[in-house]
Amino acid sequence: MNLAYYKDKYPRLGIDCYIEDSAIVKGDVTLGDDSSIWPFVAARGDVNHIRIGDRTNIQDGTVLHVTRKSESNPDGHPLLIGDDVTIGHKCMLHGCILGNRILVGMGAVIMDGVIVEDDVFIGAGSLIPPNKRLLSGYLYVGSPAKQARKLNDAELAFLKQSALNYVELKNDYLAQG
Ligand SMILES: CC(C)(COP(=O)(O)OP(=O)(O)OC[C@H]1O[C@@H](n2cnc3c(N)ncnc32)[C@H](O)[C@@H]1OP(=O)(O)O)[C@@H](O)C(=O)NCCC(=O)NCCS
Repeated sequence: MNLAYYKDKYPRLGIDCYIEDSAIVKGDVTLGDDSSIWPFVAARGDVNHIRIGDRTNIQDGTVLHVTRKSESNPDGHPLLIGDDVTIGHKCMLHGCILGNRILVGMGAVIMDGVIVEDDVFIGAGSLIPPNKRLLSGYLYVGSPAKQARKLNDAELAFLKQSALNYVELKNDYLAQG
């Protein structure tokens, strides 16, 4: 089974989600409607929770994890991902908060306590160090990532379109059975 318990917590899925057979989704993980999880994704909601919104896609080989609660950090770091978000291939998202309409380029690493506001594009291979805040409407690239420039209208529209493309794609896979 690619959905699994951690203690008494079992993943909760919205309507028409797609989870590819080789992915593993464990514990306190919630997916909204029409979201998709692609091959070899590991989403481990054990020492804290993972929340994923509607129409969000998590692409092949991406790792999602969280940080436990402690005396110095009573909430720990859950992982929260909003609506219409595209997470590219082989990303690492750990204990961070992402808003809506975001594209995380292939191979990006986003660390604990990072906040990514709505409508942000993160270039492939970027590394976002702990507790940084990425501002709405900008492209960020590099390791460590820096603000590169403002997004143009076509790029802002693409953030939403990318998510919709993946809704269509996962519907094909669901129909195929
Ligand atoms: C960043 C990105 C959006 C291109 O932005 P752009 O403004 O069109 O950039 P350009 O291609 O004009 O390149 C501008 C400069 O940035 C550099 N650059 C491009 N992408 C970069 C990246 N991801 N990280 C660091 N530098 C990058 C280029 O080498 C170039 O440098 P130079 O000026 O020294 O020659 C694109 O390269 C990218 O990373 N897209 C993500 C794609 C992806 O992963 N999608 C998800 C898969 S489903």
